[in-house]
Amino acid sequence: MATNQIGKPQNRVDGRDKVTGQARYAAEFNVKDLAYGVVVSSAIAKGRIKEMDTSEALRVEGVLEVFTSENRPKLASYDTSFQDEDAPPGSPFRPLFNRDVLFNMQPIALVVAETYELARYAASLVKVEYETEEYATDFEKERPNAYVPEEYKSTTPPDPWGKPETALKEAEHKVAEEYSHPSQHHNPMEMHATTAVWEGDGRITVYDKIQGVLNSQEYIMGVFGLAKEDVRVLSPFVGGAFGSGLRPQYQLFMAVMATLELKRSVRVALTRPQMFSFGHRPKTVQQLSLGAAADGTLEAVVHHVFAETSRFEDYSEDVIIWPGVLYKCDNVKVSHKLVGLDVYTPLDMRAPGGTTGIYALECAIDELSYKVGMDPVEFRLKNYSVRDQNEDKPFSSKELRECYRQGAELFGWKDRKPQPRSMREGHNLIGWGVANGAWEATQKPSGAKAVLTKEGKLTVSSATADIGTGTYTIMSQIAAECMGLPIEAVEFKLGDSSLPQSPLEGGSWTASTVGSAVKLVCEKLGEKLLELAQESDDSPFKEAGIEEVEFTDGQMRLKENSSVAIPLTQLLRDNKKDNIQVEAESKPSDEQENYSPYSHSAVFVEVKVDEDLGTIKVTRVVTAVAGGRILNPKTARSQILGGVVWGIGMALEEESVMDHQYGRFINHDLAEYHVPVNADVHDVEVIFVDEEDSIVNPLGVKGLGEIGIVSVAPAIANAVYHATGKRVRDLPITLDKVM
Ligand code: MOS
Repeated sequence: MATNQIGKPQNRVDGRDKVTGQARYAAEFNVKDLAYGVVVSSAIAKGRIKEMDTSEALRVEGVLEVFTSENRPKLASYDTSFQDEDAPPGSPFRPLFNRDVLFNMQPIALVVAETYELARYAASLVKVEYETEEYATDFEKERPNAYVPEEYKSTTPPDPWGKPETALKEAEHKVAEEYSHPSQHHNPMEMHATTAVWEGDGRITVYDKIQGVLNSQEYIMGVFGLAKEDVRVLSPFVGGAFGSGLRPQYQLFMAVMATLELKRSVRVALTRPQMFSFGHRPKTVQQLSLGAAADGTLEAVVHHVFAETSRFEDYSEDVIIWPGVLYKCDNVKVSHKLVGLDVYTPLDMRAPGGTTGIYALECAIDELSYKVGMDPVEFRLKNYSVRDQNEDKPFSSKELRECYRQGAELFGWKDRKPQPRSMREGHNLIGWGVANGAWEATQKPSGAKAVLTKEGKLTVSSATADIGTGTYTIMSQIAAECMGLPIEAVEFKLGDSSLPQSPLEGGSWTASTVGSAVKLVCEKLGEKLLELAQESDDSPFKEAGIEEVEFTDGQMRLKENSSVAIPLTQLLRDNKKDNIQVEAESKPSDEQENYSPYSHSAVFVEVKVDEDLGTIKVTRVVTAVAGGRILNPKTARSQILGGVVWGIGMALEEESVMDHQYGRFINHDLAEYHVPVNADVHDVEVIFVDEEDSIVNPLGVKGLGEIGIVSVAPAIANAVYHATGKRVRDLPITLDKVM
């Protein structure tokens, strides 16, 4: 613990590589004889391909092949072979499997040519005749057919507790409203791409855009029947993912299929419009009925969720767990039904279920606070929960009160006038809103490996990913601190299926999961170094236990007597070792079972709404986060800032618009799909409150990838109400809805 790496605002160790273009992404690995594949997308939402004429495309000089369902190689046929680590229950989409069209822009052919331009041109020559069938893409029309899935991908809705209906009826103050938000797409800067390299003898190396190389490797093995040693998947850099890279996408299938068939390296990169042809955040409509006693005690919560899924998989996410997590309430009932549409299966998108479920709940809670006549912060504090009621367990830690206190202070909340429309500046109405949020702080099993050389260089590795979150940096910090080395002496390797196993990078669990594995493997390395020192009989470390030594300044030394010290380089050289290697597998402790681990946040927002035009500007955001120990305040702050910016987008701009005439998301580019730009983002302050948690994992960290977005949209919606007196319960809050 002597180098104080943990908690330091260390710059990204991969920062230089990224800004100088040395960091390579999946479509940037150039190999000899590379061929290029372009995907042909279906023009209809549902039906069958009657005829596909590829002859004209094939006649183009330089076109190598056009793959369709008719000439594709033999594939696995069981669902299980196609089910990846993040697959929901159901029957996964199988590209080119048959002539059926299940959703608009479904990949129906791959044109492979000597150059990308040729492939693209030839793809435009593929002629397709369809037999169209009736399809359903209108959520509201299909909502009456909502169903309870046989199996939930997410938490199964808990049974009701207390007497929600009676409590609701008898409550002094009530809110019963419906909240909704549209489908949204991830839109990472890097579009999905795969470069599959033919190594000869049926072996391939695959550079894929994925949040976990092992998921792609397993998928390839399952679908194409390859042995593990014949497939290596690499993903050293990912240009944003946000969940879009959790499941292997069809460009991976296409590139691998073409490579195996042509025995030649092939790259397939999706276009921006094709980025709208797979997973997205599912639209939900949520009915919330809340009741409170005269004194503001929350008496009842009834939360019914309707959420979009595809026809072939039952996708669900944790939309309904939040009443049991956020507030103490004795009478609660929740349900989660799915609305099947002829679209691709929805997919986890930053804080899946949390951003949407908490949006609705936090708007309803805000409405109730006005009915009770209490300050929205006070009302939330009055109904503060210290137990997870879904699981009936205490939280492992919860410094949310401190979030409210510090957040309110920095924001200046005490100067808020309670009445809507009571604060103004010229013709701008000013609104101040608040919301609180939570996100799971999970630890999963993970492996890691450490190699220390006699030159004093430490390499630690794990098959995890860095999707821009800072994994390279924080893992280097943990290893440097554990071994008492400068960060320059440490290298962290990831994104390679040949490295020790780790789960997908998602769920905000990587700092906790891989961090714990890195800590463990370094502790083992320490033990091994001590053993090595003890091999010689006259060693001053002979009698020392591992708890009596420390690693600092590149040395191992006795805690009680720092003059007894040996540089690690000398220790290896003295023992004629070029290097020393250890591997470790970490897993959550049994103690964690008795607790419920969550991170928490309180978000304060100021909006200015033009009274005449209805335009909304988010002028100030203060977000206070209780996320356990902060490994790196700089990368941590960036995670939260990114979440806040996205929350602004969710509240005011983002919407994947379905054109039911075609059953297609029609605004499928960044000109038409609106996201916040610099001009939309003003003063954003991030606070991390102190939070100690010895239960959550050996590092006390909670993960910050998702908590940042969670309660931003409801805080904005609540601020808009405070400014205007108008409740908009359907996101995004565009000016036409405010006017
Ligand atoms: Mo996250 S939606 O688990 O990448």
